[in-house]
Formats: sequence, structure tokens, C-alpha cells
Amino acid sequence: MERDVSDKVLSDVHVFTPHETLPDTDESVNTVTRFNFSLPPDVKRELSPGISSEKNTSNPDDDGELLFDEDGDVVVTRKPVTENKLVITIEHMMETKLDDVGLQVWQGCLLLCDFVLHLHTKFKASRVVDLGAGVGLTSIVAGLFAESVLVTDVGEMILRTSESNIALNKPLLGEDCSFLVKELNWLKFCGPKDSYSDARSSRFQMTEDDHTLLDGVSLILAAEVIYDPDLTDAFFSTVKQLMSRPPAKTLYMTLEKRLVFTLADLDVVSPAYEHFQEKMEELLALSLDGVTFHCCQVPCDFPQYFTYDRHKHLELWQITSSLSD
Ligand SMILES: C[S@@+](CC[C@H](N)C(=O)[O-])C[C@H]1O[C@@H](n2cnc3c(N)ncnc32)[C@H](O)[C@@H]1O
Repeated sequence: MERDVSDKVLSDVHVFTPHETLPDTDESVNTVTRFNFSLPPDVKRELSPGISSEKNTSNPDDDGELLFDEDGDVVVTRKPVTENKLVITIEHMMETKLDDVGLQVWQGCLLLCDFVLHLHTKFKASRVVDLGAGVGLTSIVAGLFAESVLVTDVGEMILRTSESNIALNKPLLGEDCSFLVKELNWLKFCGPKDSYSDARSSRFQMTEDDHTLLDGVSLILAAEVIYDPDLTDAFFSTVKQLMSRPPAKTLYMTLEKRLVFTLADLDVVSPAYEHFQEKMEELLALSLDGVTFHCCQVPCDFPQYFTYDRHKHLELWQITSSLSD
């Protein structure tokens, strides 16, 4: 995350990816980016027939223009750019305060999207939860394959934005995956069926059925959620509780190791990353009522489908839980 003088942060994704300002909007989510990506060769036939069989009639090098309806809303069509290239359209904000970083898209999100595409057979017909989903890009990519995606984050604005991005890309997604956007606040997560949502009066509050859905997921995604020590503690506590209940679950998370020079250390350090490593070690050492955790870093040598700088400080980690009867 790049800090500027007004204490706002701006994701590299938005610095280097072309984007447009939405016309005539007084909403704070006022920018739109079209994320072009290619599909792995074996994926085309996996997606719904409307996507895979439709022939492109335009110039294959043309990424297409942003289309608006008569109300000025962005319109997404089902048409692929070429036979193996798709576009996901995401509305988001440019630079934000740290509290609102979920309204931007981060590089680790694109790395996780690549990994989902790479591992698409594992995601096929699976039940997935996305923790700290932000504006919903990883959830949307997972939804190309999964049976259901529970899209979670904290705060009405982020939840509303991810909900509307999912609706915007519905023509691309088809009807095969069900999406549910709900508030899951790691700082208040106390286990199954406890009330931990601030969204008490809204449609984003977790219901008992949503808790059942959450318990039943087999795959957990989390992109770029390591940047603040208190949030990292709360995130790991949430993961520990979620993964201690059957079915056995696998979590894939991405992060960017951000280096800072501190006067205290007189050196370049990465406090958020060091804290992450400590939490990983704690999790590995745990044995809770027959539950053990396994963690490993996944090599990022799989193909790149999205356009971004996959540099050495972008990391992908896997955590699995084993539950003895
Ligand atoms: C850096 S953003 C990453 C967003 C998105 N996953 C991406 O990579 O583009 C971190 C995300 O964690 C979410 N978050 C922060 N505190 C949280 C909490 N207490 N509970 C749940 N999510 C939280 C933020 O709202 C934000 O969406």
C-alpha cells in the first residue's frame, strides 16, 4: 500500500491499471476498472455454454468500451473479448483511508484470482467463503466455478459495493453459483451461531442459515488481509474457529510483504509480515481437541491470467485443518 501525505493509501493495481471515472455520480464509489483476464485452456468448456460457445465478432485485440445504460449505470455483457478472454467489471474507489482499503482492489487479490483459475477443478461445485472480500473480485472469480460463495467483509459500504459488483457481472457468471454477501467481523467472531454482526438491521446480518452455510464451506479465501497487527490477531482467531469444525477446510491466502525503514531498527523491516509469521507458528503449534493445522507457502509459479506485477514479495499461503474423529 502506498502512503501519501494525507494519510490515504492507493493500491498499485489502480496506479497501473487503466480505469474510468463514473459519469454523473455523487457516490463515493466512483471509479470503474475492467479486469481483462485469460482462461486456462481447459476452463472454457467448464464454464456455462453461453460463455464458452459465444463467438466474438469484434476485433480480438479490442478490449471493448465501457457501456452505460440510459441511467448512466455500467452495463456488462456476456460476450467474451476473445474465446478465451473475459472481462470482470469492478466499481471501486481510488485512494482511501486505511479503514476503507476494502473499497480498492489489491495485488494479492489478482494473485489469488490467478490461483483460483489455476486450481479451478478444486473449486468446481465447492462451497467457498471469502474473508475480507472487499469489492468482491476474488469472490466473482471463485463464482465462475463454485456452487456457492459467501462473500464477507465489514461495513455497509463495502458490502453494498461487493453486492452490486456481483450483480453487475451476473451476465458473465450465469446462474450456476449462488452468492451471499454478509458481514463477518473478525474482531467480533466468537464461533458458530453467536451474534457477531454489526449489521443488525440490514440484509447483511448473518442468519442461522448463513451460519450453517459458513460451517459447511470447504474452501476459504482471503486476499491481502495482513496489514495491521490487531486485525491479524482477529483474523487468525476467526480462522482457527472456522477451521476447527468439520468438514475439514483449506484456506488460501495472499499477502504482500511490505517493507518499511524504521528509525527504531535503523533497517528495512516488515512488522506486519513478522507478526503474520508469529501467528502462523502459533497455529502450527496448536492441537485443539483433535484438530491440527498445517501451513505452507505455495510457490507462485503457476500461469498468470490477470495483468499485474507478480513480484517476489507477493506471497500465497495454504492452511489446512485435520480433524480426528
Ligand atoms: C487490503 S483489503 C483487501 C480487500 C480484497 N480482499 C482485495 O484483496 O482486494 C483488506 C480487507 O479486510 C477487511 N477487513 C478489515 N477489518 C476487518 C474485520 N474486522 N473483519 C472482517 N474484514 C475486515 C477490509 O474491509 C478489507 O476489505
